Amino acid sequence: MKILVTGGAGYIGSHTCVELLNAGYEVVVVDNLMNSNEISLERVKKITGKSLKFYQEDLLNYEEIKKIFLIEKPDSVIHFAGLKAVGESVEKPLWYYENNIVGTINLIKVMKETEVKNLVFSSSATVYGLSKIVPIKEDFPLNTTNPYGATKLMIEQILMDVVNADDSWKIISLRYFNPVGAHKSGLIGEDPNGIPNNLLPFVSQVAVGKRDVLSVFGNDYDTVDGTGVRDFIHVVDLALGHIKALDKIDKISGYKAYNLGTGRGVSVLQMIKAFEKASGKEIKYKIVGRRSGDIGESFADPSLANKELGWKANLTIEDICKDAWNWQKNNPEGYK
Ligand code: NAD
Ligand code: WQD
Repeated sequence: MKILVTGGAGYIGSHTCVELLNAGYEVVVVDNLMNSNEISLERVKKITGKSLKFYQEDLLNYEEIKKIFLIEKPDSVIHFAGLKAVGESVEKPLWYYENNIVGTINLIKVMKETEVKNLVFSSSATVYGLSKIVPIKEDFPLNTTNPYGATKLMIEQILMDVVNADDSWKIISLRYFNPVGAHKSGLIGEDPNGIPNNLLPFVSQVAVGKRDVLSVFGNDYDTVDGTGVRDFIHVVDLALGHIKALDKIDKISGYKAYNLGTGRGVSVLQMIKAFEKASGKEIKYKIVGRRSGDIGESFADPSLANKELGWKANLTIEDICKDAWNWQKNNPEGYK
């Protein structure tokens, strides 16, 4: 079975390529490297001892993408490629809408023309907007608060409509909660550009001495210790969720969306403590005001994925911190 992976050189994509190769799939990556480095794919080969094919191409180049499909004739597609920074999407909405939505429409059109009709799509818990109820289930109301989230929601709607129009498509959207951690080899991991927006990469960079102090955004939420609570999921558990989705895709009818989370909420302060323990480093922090657009608490009800995909997250917060630290200390400058 051959899987075409868009965005496969990126953070979650590279970890998924490892698990695909370990599971015996043939892998073809299409990535324009706008937010990644080809070295990640060299490391994927090193970890697995297996090969994969790489095309440096942009999903906006419809004709080139079609050529790749005609050459490769994949059985299924996993679609990671997209821009993902919430703040940046507010500043540059048209760039986000064009890259994420036009890129996806091009992909779907090429898939339709080349008769490839199995797709697993990277969605996000961001589609639940500011849900005040936890744990979050798939049938909760969907809405968004920023252009990035809007692209995920619009793409889910497009995919649903594609299936409604032609039921020979099989499409699964996986709604990730907070992906963190790294492969245990320390060879691949998250490599953000500039100042990290997300908690774990920032904490890791404080631990390794690249940043002085973490700002904790608010300690007055109605949570265990007043700081934000999130469902941090190990990227390897997440990657394995894609393998399960591919295993089941032929058996599902039409369009399905699944939460990929642990079902467990961890606060910012709990995360800092766990990272200090795993790294043996002090994480200096200061409490500052809430970050605009944040909610106090968000965690998944992952029982649907457990029941229908046979998937469950197994790795702990300790594993997450140990593996993130192993990656950070061995690659203080990321892939550069
Ligand atoms: P990433 O930026 O590391 O990976 C995305 C990859 O897509 C990059 O390698 C980038 O170069 C590529 N890409 C972007 N636009 C492209 C285009 N037009 N053509 C070809 N390649 C293109 O991000 P990630 O963290 O690995 O996220 C993967 C997917 O998961 C994204 O769709 C993201 O929105 C989604 N997601 C991520 C998170 C998270 O916190 N990391 C959470 C929920 C959902
Ligand atoms: C987690 C907690 C912050 C940084 C984002 C996107 C979401 C999804 C995953 C793509 C919150 C606090 C953070 C810092 C802090 N991405 N924090 N200091 O906001 O839950 O989700 O990434 O789909 O769409 O919005 O993740 O890691 O930014 O924040 O105190 O420097 O850490 O306030 O409580 P978030 P995060």
